[in-house]
Amino acid sequence: MGTHWWSPGRAVGPPLLAVVILSLLTPAAASVAYDHKAIIINGQRRILLSGSIHYPRSTPQMWPDLIQKAKDGGLDVIQTYVFWNGHEPSPGQYYFEERFDLVQFINLVKKAGLYVNLRIGPYICAEWNFGGFPVWLKYVPGIQFRTANEPFKAAMKNFTAKIVSMMKSEGLFHWQGGPIILCQIENEFGPLEWDQGAPVKAYAAWAAEMAVGLDTGVPWIMCKEDDAPDPVINTWNGFYGDYFSTNRPYKPAMLTEVWTGWFTGFGAPVPHRPVEDLAFAVAKFIQKGGSFVNYYMYHGGTNFGRTAGGPFIATSYDYDAPIDEFGLVREPKWGHLRDLHRAIKLCEMALVSGDPVVTSLGNTQESYVYGSNSGYCAAFLANYDTKYYARVIFNGMHYDLPPWSITILPDCKTTVFNTAKVGVQTSLMQMNPVVGFTWQSYGDETKFDDDNSFTAIGLLEQINMTRDTSDYLWYKTNVDIAQDESFLKGGAYPVLTVMSAGHSLSVFVNGQLAGSAYGGLQDPRLTYSECIELQSGSNTISILSASVGLPNVGEHFETWNTGVLGPVTLSGLNEGKRDLTWQNWSYKIGLKGEALNLHTTSGISSVEWQESYPKQPLTWYKAFFDAPEGSDPLAIDMGSMGKGQIWINGQSIGRYWPGYTATGDCGACDYHGEFNEAKCRTNCGEPSQRWYHVPRSWLNPTGNLLVLFEEWGGDPSGISMVARKVGSICAYVSEWQPSIINWRMKDYKKAKVHLSCPEGKKITTIKFASFGTPQGVCGNFSEGSCHARKSFDVFEKRCIGLASCSVAVVAEVFGGDPCPGVMKASAVEAICE
Ligand SMILES: *[C@@H]1O[C@H](CO)[C@@H](O)[C@H](O)[C@H]1NC(C)=O
Ligand SMILES: *[C@@H]1O[C@H](CO)[C@@H](O)[C@H](O)[C@H]1NC(C)=O
Ligand SMILES: *[C@@H]1O[C@H](CO)[C@@H](O)[C@H](O)[C@H]1NC(C)=O
Ligand SMILES: *[C@@H]1O[C@H](CO)[C@@H](O)[C@H](O)[C@H]1NC(C)=O
Repeated sequence: MGTHWWSPGRAVGPPLLAVVILSLLTPAAASVAYDHKAIIINGQRRILLSGSIHYPRSTPQMWPDLIQKAKDGGLDVIQTYVFWNGHEPSPGQYYFEERFDLVQFINLVKKAGLYVNLRIGPYICAEWNFGGFPVWLKYVPGIQFRTANEPFKAAMKNFTAKIVSMMKSEGLFHWQGGPIILCQIENEFGPLEWDQGAPVKAYAAWAAEMAVGLDTGVPWIMCKEDDAPDPVINTWNGFYGDYFSTNRPYKPAMLTEVWTGWFTGFGAPVPHRPVEDLAFAVAKFIQKGGSFVNYYMYHGGTNFGRTAGGPFIATSYDYDAPIDEFGLVREPKWGHLRDLHRAIKLCEMALVSGDPVVTSLGNTQESYVYGSNSGYCAAFLANYDTKYYARVIFNGMHYDLPPWSITILPDCKTTVFNTAKVGVQTSLMQMNPVVGFTWQSYGDETKFDDDNSFTAIGLLEQINMTRDTSDYLWYKTNVDIAQDESFLKGGAYPVLTVMSAGHSLSVFVNGQLAGSAYGGLQDPRLTYSECIELQSGSNTISILSASVGLPNVGEHFETWNTGVLGPVTLSGLNEGKRDLTWQNWSYKIGLKGEALNLHTTSGISSVEWQESYPKQPLTWYKAFFDAPEGSDPLAIDMGSMGKGQIWINGQSIGRYWPGYTATGDCGACDYHGEFNEAKCRTNCGEPSQRWYHVPRSWLNPTGNLLVLFEEWGGDPSGISMVARKVGSICAYVSEWQPSIINWRMKDYKKAKVHLSCPEGKKITTIKFASFGTPQGVCGNFSEGSCHARKSFDVFEKRCIGLASCSVAVVAEVFGGDPCPGVMKASAVEAICE
């Protein structure tokens, strides 16, 4: 068993005991190390449960609560990427304020008593604009991203070193008394190596050496990179970690990303991952000997501003995470995982004591037993069958294992947790309208004037022009139509065809909207091809091309183009087809309203606003409103709108695009069997994202300015502000629901229903209660053939007026057994107010 001890930047071979003791006494010596079993902190092997919370995807005011909820959920570690393009918006100009205050974020994690896994990248992917790279980096002469390219390596080293030295000077590494126990260099590099071979391998080796040379004093990891050179640990990212093993026998098995759901794209259905399957994936990885699991995401949050990557990544980065986008715990996901974590922690000493003894218990059933020689004993009983319960014999006792589940026995005898048996409550969330708006409007130009414009022959690439300072680039050209064109005498109008590299565009003919077209997640390219109404003489064709997030993944995505690159043609003329591609084109970066800062309090006075608010394209809308009372999280319901952007008090809420309805398959969702991101989706035929998070801390008590820019001509009268709150809470608990609390109290038999209201609320109504064989799901329970008549009274008596209550699932409580010999359960739905 080789233990690799770290003193900053230097791997020392397998130690003698004396070396270990010495290094623990030296201030700057190894406080974090690893061996084949686990990360070792202060000499102790640890099973570490971690969750991703990305600091710019929430506000500093939300951070303490998110971190506390992560801690209450049983996590040891918070994992975050470092967002280069947020921190270095232009070369050498750094920004570490507000949502980008990395040091404050890490200090809050420290204050909560948790560790940090800092994924510096600086390539991060993350569905974040340009994968975290600043756009200016693309224009460094001779640069190629993520390969053995000197300008790239110099810039990458510069930024990585900057972050490491910042962390050191703030005393944030573990050996300094700080919370950082792990760092990551690069991100999911393996796929590039498989495709590109030697040159990129040399770069990966360089990246590892560069990182290790920065003397962080904590281990480095590279995720999804089988070649991670020593001493860097290769780790895995996926829905499961089943087939992963490290590239050296002396590295621990770590799952740096187990995906709690999946990202939402505009135009795509919204993905969900059932907690039964997520818990199964995590338990399976730990069962096999894994010692580090990170939930990606634990809180996904929001892609505020223009930070969403893609193209076509939605503004919501909810990810179906245990803490929802708005900072509220998602139940039963959060609670069931908390119980899983408690069960795993009960096994920790056994798990780290050595390797498991694996025994087959049936065709698709196995037991993993840890620590039987160490005085500890913990067992995992797995049933991989996707359909059937299995009754197995383990240590001379019978166990009933639900399909696709793992049962945890921290004493090798007692079931305290099963991944498929969710006993915690479910919360049904509501979005209740709290504020309506009275709008004023201002129409932006639909055929731009020539101020601030420039002319070129042919079509120009969009990002090269905008440098991503705006989503928008105008393209304008003139078309002369002779008087003798036959279509003027009653024939079909000519067809304008515009080929674009992406991502969306609107075409205006003589200032009138002719139509829009857009690409999608699978392919950003698009073709607009429609009849357009031209008149005799000179006509203006103006095209507003919009980007919707720059790519965050793919080979050399820095070379991918955006905008109208042509050809642009007009067909159906007397001459046949006319190619407009190589004409003179005028260009203008951004909208007039953007140049006037119409989204800000000072900018709004620069134009005349109309009291009416017609549905029309390229229109700015503004309204003032007072902050709703209370502390429920807020969102704007944009369901009636098309496409655009939202600002509140000058802060960008992000892009909205409810006009892009989700296409795809939203079939039934069943947790049994292998999960993938297309399996459990909602919103087909509806907007991918209707609600847009408004952080409370961005509001003043009164007089808040809400500004929208609408591209398509949506209906602003349908917009409202909504408050997110828990509607109903429900529980469904069977007589034999395993429970850690019962195990601790040596009271195995009494399963209990626990109901708990959000902070400050009390149970006011029991909507449904049945002890017997109730059916259905939260919000739609019904009585089964067996039902105790007192069910309702019992819950009313024990719960009404209380913030939380517990009721045992036993016949005595309900005035006797309504159906002896039948397996019973309690189902209850309650309202908190
Ligand atoms: C590295 O950083 C230094 C100091 O900020 C700067 O002068 C230099 O231009 C940077 N080099 C690169 C390649 O970014
Ligand atoms: C960017 O634009 C400049 C002119 O402004 C041009 O010289 C250069 O070739 C363009 N680069 C790309 C990649 O389009
Ligand atoms: C294109 O624009 C330039 C400069 O504005 C002008 O000199 C030239 O005549 C134009 N060419 C055509 C074909 O319109
Ligand atoms: C409620 O459940 C019943 C059966 O238990 C089912 O037929 C019905 O469709 C459900 N209703 C809703 C709205 O889900």
